[in-house]
This record gives sequence, structure tokens and C-alpha cells, in this order.
Amino acid sequence: MTARQELMGLLTGKWIPPVLATLAELGIADEVAEKPLTAEDLAERVGAQPRALYRVLRSAASVGVFAEDADGRFGLTETAGLLRSGVPESLRDAARMFGLEPFWTPYAQLAHTVRTGEPAFDRVFGQSIYEYLGGHPDDAGVFGAAAATFHGHAMAPIVASHDFSPYGVVVDVGGGSGGLLVELLRAYPRLRGVLLELESVLPEATTTFRDAGVADRVDLVAGDFFTDVPPGDAHLIKSCLHNFTDEQTIEILRVLRRTGAPVLIVETMIPAGNTPHYSKFDDIEMLAIAGGADRTEREWAALAEAAGLRPRGVVECDDRFSLLEAT
Ligand SMILES: C[S@@+](CC[C@H](N)C(=O)[O-])C[C@H]1O[C@@H](n2cnc3c(N)ncnc32)[C@H](O)[C@@H]1O
Repeated sequence: MTARQELMGLLTGKWIPPVLATLAELGIADEVAEKPLTAEDLAERVGAQPRALYRVLRSAASVGVFAEDADGRFGLTETAGLLRSGVPESLRDAARMFGLEPFWTPYAQLAHTVRTGEPAFDRVFGQSIYEYLGGHPDDAGVFGAAAATFHGHAMAPIVASHDFSPYGVVVDVGGGSGGLLVELLRAYPRLRGVLLELESVLPEATTTFRDAGVADRVDLVAGDFFTDVPPGDAHLIKSCLHNFTDEQTIEILRVLRRTGAPVLIVETMIPAGNTPHYSKFDDIEMLAIAGGADRTEREWAALAEAAGLRPRGVVECDDRFSLLEAT
């Protein structure tokens, strides 16, 4: 491949996410889960314009998501199978989230962010992503569902990467819909959990714990990690701190330090060098959308120290996440 072809491939990559997001939104993978269907049949089922749907499906098939057979019917491929709802490791909600306006349009203003440091999101929408989601429950629902499934595969390796047996109660700070706590409570049958979250997230978490059969071992607490967190023998905080600036991160870590319990920070940490890593573009999402940052191990340790904590070491949980323990 020439350098020109390589660069063109990178540039035209922008065409792919909206196509996948649209197919995910329309639920096409669920429609063809049993048997392949033509674009005409699919259009009738999902309420779409047949020719437009055909063109979108054909483009997706050209990158291996769905496949068209000789009779013009589209069926699942392995990747398309992950766009079904409710299957293990489903990425349907993640695909829908990537197509949402608040996660898409700000990128047109990335140069503004680079020139000024202001998140592109704030320039486009005139408010932060969190304020926006607070006023748009539908988008917030997709975002919450995506967050729950996006890192689903990482929960078991995260739990396996640290010895939780000395603790009686672990607090999952900003624990989202509860997936990590469920995995932890399953691995440690005598452990109790506390989930600290914004009020609006608690109903979803309640359902997660009930469905997983661990509701009797979890307390759900509505609160704000900038002001106070419930007591426990360890405080776990995953994928929250990267949403915030250094100053805000130190503020949250100070609140955690005040509990006197070990703090377990789980984040995607940026490796040195030019190697590809999930964190390097996740960091751009933080830069443009959230106003936060992904960081290197050393930078996380420095933030912990700035909050008065002592970093005790980092373990790699899987190809994305690492766990930093600080006391
Ligand atoms: C990116 S999500 C991570 C959720 C979960 N820890 C995970 O890894 O899937 C960040 C979470 O922080 C919660 N959150 C944001 N601000 C908060 C605050 N001030 N106090 C408590 N939770 C907050 C959000 O509701 C959201 O669920």
C-alpha cells in the first residue's frame, strides 16, 4: 500500500461509524438473526427507504459487517452479530452512541479545541456534555446502555487483577449501572458492595443487581463524588476520572483519600511510544467531548500524589485497562 492509499484509508474511515450506527439504530442485526433478508424486506420491517437501506448495507458489507449473498439477501457476519441486542458482548448500544449528534458533531470543531483547549462539545452545544445529557434523557439512556456494554469484556480481568479478599465492603464510586460490582460480588461471595451514583442512574443499577441475584449484598447510594463518598474498606473508581481535568480529578481523589481506605483507580492508561492503543483516541474523545484526559501511568500516579495519596503500583488488567492502587 502506498502512503497515499494509507492516508486515504484513514481519512475515509469517517464514513464507517455513521453507517454502523444507522444499522444499529434500525435494529438490522436483530432482524436478520434468524435468516438473511433482502434490503426490500428489511426496509418494510424497520420502516426505511429500500434503496437507501440497500446502499448502506452494501457499504457495511464491504468492511465485513453483514454479508450479501448471491440472491441479494443480507445476513450476519461475526462482527454484525455483535450489533444484535441482548447477546453477550453486544455492541449495539455502543454503535448507536457513536452515531448520536452529541458524540459526532463536536468533532467538526476539534481544531477549535486544539487552538484553545476548550472542549469542542461546549462550543457546539453551549454547555458541557453532562449538562446536555441531564436535559436529554433519550441520549442519556443510550449513553448509559453503551457505557454498560462497552467495557463488558473487561470486568472479569479487572476483578482478577487485584486481591479483594481482605475487604468486607467495596464502594464502586461512579459505578454506572453496576456491571463491575456484579462481577466482583460473584467472584467474592462474602463481599458486600456499595454503588455510589447520581440519582438518575440508580434505577438502572437496581435492575442490574436484581437480575444478577446480588441485590441483597449491595447498597445503592445517591451522591456526588466531588463532595462525599460512603465509607468502605476500599474505593474502586473506574472510567470516571478521565472525564475530568487534572484539578477536578485531584478534588475527587481528595474526597476519596479522606475515607482512609485504599483507592483503586481503573482507567485506560496511555503507553509510551507510537504504538496503537485504545487510550490514544479515547483521550481525544475526552479532549473534544468531556474536557478530561486519558493519562500515562506516571501522570495518574502524580495526580494521586497531588491528592495526598501514595501510589502503590499499577497492574495491567487487559489490553485496555490498568489498575492503580493508592493508599
Ligand atoms: C463513564 S461512566 C463510568 C461508569 C462505570 N464506572 C463504568 O466503568 O462503566 C462515569 C459515571 O460517573 C457518574 N458520575 C458523574 N458525575 C458524578 C458525580 N458527581 N458523582 C457521582 N457519580 C457521577 C456518571 O453517572 C457515570 O455513570
